[in-house]
Amino acid sequence: MTVSAQRFPPHLRLFARAEDGEAWVGDEIARLLRSRPESVLGLATGNSMRGVYRQLVSLHRQGALSFSAMTSFNLDEYCGVNASDPSSFSSFMHDQLFDRVDANPSRLHLPDSTAVDAAARYEALITAAGGIDLQVLGIGQNGHIGFNEPGSSPSSRTRIVDLAPRTRQVNAADFPSDATVPTKAITMGIATILEARRIILLATGAAKADALAQALHSPPSADNPASYLQTHPNVTIACDDAAAAHLRADAFKEKRHA
Ligand code: GLP
Repeated sequence: MTVSAQRFPPHLRLFARAEDGEAWVGDEIARLLRSRPESVLGLATGNSMRGVYRQLVSLHRQGALSFSAMTSFNLDEYCGVNASDPSSFSSFMHDQLFDRVDANPSRLHLPDSTAVDAAARYEALITAAGGIDLQVLGIGQNGHIGFNEPGSSPSSRTRIVDLAPRTRQVNAADFPSDATVPTKAITMGIATILEARRIILLATGAAKADALAQALHSPPSADNPASYLQTHPNVTIACDDAAAAHLRADAFKEKRHA
């Protein structure tokens, strides 16, 4: 399905090295938290985010950043995996960020598919917090954002979804065996994500080049859920040269960093 919504050119930040892009995203989050400590962050998991959280932990350890007033909502979580399981996104967030900074545990949220009315409740919590100020995203090799796989509607909200075979293959590295990779997850929807006031998508590595080019240069379509970001007026794409390999530079106001 294609949509005829207005399209906006995203900002593009290009980095020669992935780690510089990751640190820049961390710095953008830090800048927001310093200007408004009670900001509401939309957070993501995945390997792309490790360097982002490393930067945030490092700033916190230098005494330069506090997380005590921020509220966060993660994009997604597997179904059938306990929060305490090392393969859960909850464990990822605690290991990479939450347990290393002064975050207030009562303000940190991940969707929990086992909760009563899990999806509606998660949406209501986001609304009650005043909405998301800054949503950070990675991108799947098939163009997914959160776990909104190809076929996801632009009006989708938080819900339980089936994981695409390709996603299960890529994410198998985080599980003890292929057979234990979950088949379902709970994820914020495309509409939920697009309600964030600002979005930064971080894409690094050659494996993301095709998905990123399709997301930014093809008309918005469920074939590549990240393409719906074109309908949001405040999106920044941060990427390294490898992920940007198939982008047409003339389509952006490009800003190159070291
Ligand atoms: C994961 C998450 C996404 C993430 C994507 C890319 O499974 N559900 O939120 O952006 O896949 O992950 P990575 O950064 O490891 O490539």
